[in-house]
Amino acid sequence: MSEQKQKIGERPGDPCAFVIFGASGDLTRRKLLPALYNLRRYGLLPRDVAIIGVGRKDAKREEFVQKMGADLKEFATAEVDESIWQDLAARLYYVAFDFEQPAGYGWLRDMLKDVEAAHKTQGNVLFYLATPPASFATIVKQCADAGLTDETGHWRRFIVEKPFGRDLDSARALNAQLLTSLSERQIYRIDHYLGKETVQNILAFRFANGIFEPVWNRRYIDHVQITVAETLGVEGRGGYYESAGVLRDMIQNHMFQLLALVAMEPPSSFEATPVRDEKVKVLNAIRPLQPEEILQRTVRGQYGEGFVDGQKLVAYRSEGSVAATSPTETFAALKLDVDNWRWGGVPFYLRSGKRLAKHDTEIVIQFRKPPLLAFGKIQIQDLEPNRLILQIQPEEGIVIEIKAKRPGATMNLTRVNLDFNYSDFGPSDKATGYERLLYDAMTGDTTLYHRADMVEAAWRIATPILDVWGSIPPRDFPNYTAGSWGPAAADEMMKRDGRAWRNP
Ligand code: BG6
Repeated sequence: MSEQKQKIGERPGDPCAFVIFGASGDLTRRKLLPALYNLRRYGLLPRDVAIIGVGRKDAKREEFVQKMGADLKEFATAEVDESIWQDLAARLYYVAFDFEQPAGYGWLRDMLKDVEAAHKTQGNVLFYLATPPASFATIVKQCADAGLTDETGHWRRFIVEKPFGRDLDSARALNAQLLTSLSERQIYRIDHYLGKETVQNILAFRFANGIFEPVWNRRYIDHVQITVAETLGVEGRGGYYESAGVLRDMIQNHMFQLLALVAMEPPSSFEATPVRDEKVKVLNAIRPLQPEEILQRTVRGQYGEGFVDGQKLVAYRSEGSVAATSPTETFAALKLDVDNWRWGGVPFYLRSGKRLAKHDTEIVIQFRKPPLLAFGKIQIQDLEPNRLILQIQPEEGIVIEIKAKRPGATMNLTRVNLDFNYSDFGPSDKATGYERLLYDAMTGDTTLYHRADMVEAAWRIATPILDVWGSIPPRDFPNYTAGSWGPAAADEMMKRDGRAWRNP
């Protein structure tokens, strides 16, 4: 039985055509194409597959294939094997049209028929919307009008990129628009954080080990902190970032998912529905902050200029396509409460920012201190608590900080780490993080994708904060130096609670 299961897990995806809207964009060349290439290397891409790029720019098929070949050489995560590339190249097609115009969807329908005959794709189609969000609803509606969403005798699925809405109302409206043409199980709202090995390992860590569950609650845990720190700035995406800010770009989606994985109850099975049900319950248990709490429990920041490794970095307001008086936050820290029996009274602190001191994503579970100490002069308040650190990236591992007696005649306590590093498994294949997610969409597994109610639950938490921030212009921006750990107010917020961020 288990052997059979394993084989099923390792089967290639279903035969299908993979249609990328926005094929000439950055996501296609940096992530999607290298991921498809890797899936072919692993033997997980369907044997019968065709890839159709849809873009606005006119180009001949040969030009598209040539460009994809050059892009793959630049962005592949492994040396490109010519025979694998040739196999993919023979399956690549391109069609150009304006996404607003119905005619193009007729051309796409004809092309899908041709590739079905040529590559035995069995009528299954996986659409990937790698376009600006303003086009999501139009593309899906036009596809439906052209008969491309009908699932008689085959499947039709749509992967939708982020951002999914920009607040609760727009996310609800987008869900409603998509759901007039598609059923929920056809919609795959992607979050690339859920494709990361170390993120998937959170569930394995919590639920494949019996020893953590008994202490995973308010009795033993003092607080949880989640940091997603980037050293990068906005990297030429100033136009997009001006309309987003870090709360929309990182926290509402990726970080709330990390929080949900840490805080969720054990699902009854690891099928999509029970896992997503438990995640949405946690998000719904987070109490949205009241306007008067927002000034106490949130901090926003924006980077000014700074130096890293002797190199001068410009301020956010001097980046391309950014307004000289921009109020957009590039840093945010929040203190949230998960109001349920497991977590009542345990604060969850989240922070994320661009141009911080170190590239680091980690989750710190800080335990309560022992109730009393009988070690001579050492006072309980001097003792560091135990911490469990789930390192997501670039370090990939798990560390448990404990106290031990230093060898010697006196009782001298010191901190030691019990640690596990992913590199202990030996060298691993580098990947884009999209492989697993694309594979899951090709096999119909939605577990790692957001469901409509999850997205809305996350916006229910983020929107009141955005509203208050929007109504009170930040007077102190820029308020942190590029290359630092963010604004002093974020440290003060922790200090008021008698706590501190762990800055690795
Ligand atoms: C994206 C954001 O979703 O995630 C970017 O739009 C951010 O602004 C990126 O840089 C970070 O992803 P990763 O995988 O590098 O941590």
